[in-house]
Amino acid sequence: MEHRPHKGTKKVELAADRGQHGQFPRVRMRRNRASDWSRRLVRETNLTVDDLIWPVFIKDGGAKREPIPSMPGVHRLTIPALLTAAEEAARLGIPAIALFPYVPKERKDERAEEAVRSDNLCNRAIRALKKAVPEIGVICDVALDPFTSHGHDGVMKGERIVNDETVDILCRMALAQAEAGVDVVAPSDMMDGRIGQVRDALDAEGHQSTLIMSYAAKYASAFYGPFRDAIGSKGALKGDKRTYQMDFGNGDEAIRECALDVAEGADMLMVKPGLPYLDVLHRVKQAFRMPTFAYQVSGEYSMIKAAAQNGWLDNDKAMIESLSCFKRAGADGILTYFAIEAAQKLRG
Ligand code: PBG
Repeated sequence: MEHRPHKGTKKVELAADRGQHGQFPRVRMRRNRASDWSRRLVRETNLTVDDLIWPVFIKDGGAKREPIPSMPGVHRLTIPALLTAAEEAARLGIPAIALFPYVPKERKDERAEEAVRSDNLCNRAIRALKKAVPEIGVICDVALDPFTSHGHDGVMKGERIVNDETVDILCRMALAQAEAGVDVVAPSDMMDGRIGQVRDALDAEGHQSTLIMSYAAKYASAFYGPFRDAIGSKGALKGDKRTYQMDFGNGDEAIRECALDVAEGADMLMVKPGLPYLDVLHRVKQAFRMPTFAYQVSGEYSMIKAAAQNGWLDNDKAMIESLSCFKRAGADGILTYFAIEAAQKLRG
């Protein structure tokens, strides 16, 4: 079918040939690839330190740094350790860090009361960071799951996660973070209507400059496994998150989710997880031309680390390749647990 000659088709093909699509043997694609200098010269996208956002797990008390077994090389940090780590990140030129709290069982409840307290771990960390390392951007997740006894991102009524009541709490949570001085609030809960309501709540209290990075297209994913270890919600989570996070079979739905969040006032969009969803990332960037971010999530990180520890692949090469592919697909930046390692590598 494709080769059936149509009237006039030949002419079009020849015109295309005279343009960029020549033919062998005059055209040899390998010429540009022959040397390091020419490969660098023709490279279409480049990963830089400016593309990196470092997600950090924080905790109260105990050892300054506590390893997370399912995420080799990643630690939960106390606030003093966080400040040291943030200084290093800033020195390397990493633009921003994203905070995720480890919350002990006794601070969790059905309605995530801890999430809205002005002196909770995140808010104390934000204040300390903005004082000690003011040059680094501070992003904080807005979602209830670290704080709920059932591990869900919303309030439960029976078996249901109730939307509107949850959004009210998210607004109070975002406000408490803004008051602590956070630069960017990042709603990651996937409740409907939360971006608009968070924007209104912030604006009503004079926080017009606080940015919103929306986890706009966030999928119910098996790749979050190690993260739930890290924040201590794994044992707690009852069931799964499929009534609010997206179905991995859907792409058009991601465009609708993003369109809503753009209309509601999101400053930045995020697609999550990362590598298995590069098609979604590409479509979102093409559709909206918004600052668009990808999250290389815990499971993606741990897969590379585990394989590298077994000698099955080269850690640094897999790290730089995977991060670079996000750029090629259209990302303006990547949240990655490799941020420090990648920045060190990129700085040589
Ligand atoms: C909280 C949240 C999650 C992640 C970021 N924010 C987990 C979840 O939705 O269950 C996952 C990050 C990762 O796996 O690295 N809503």
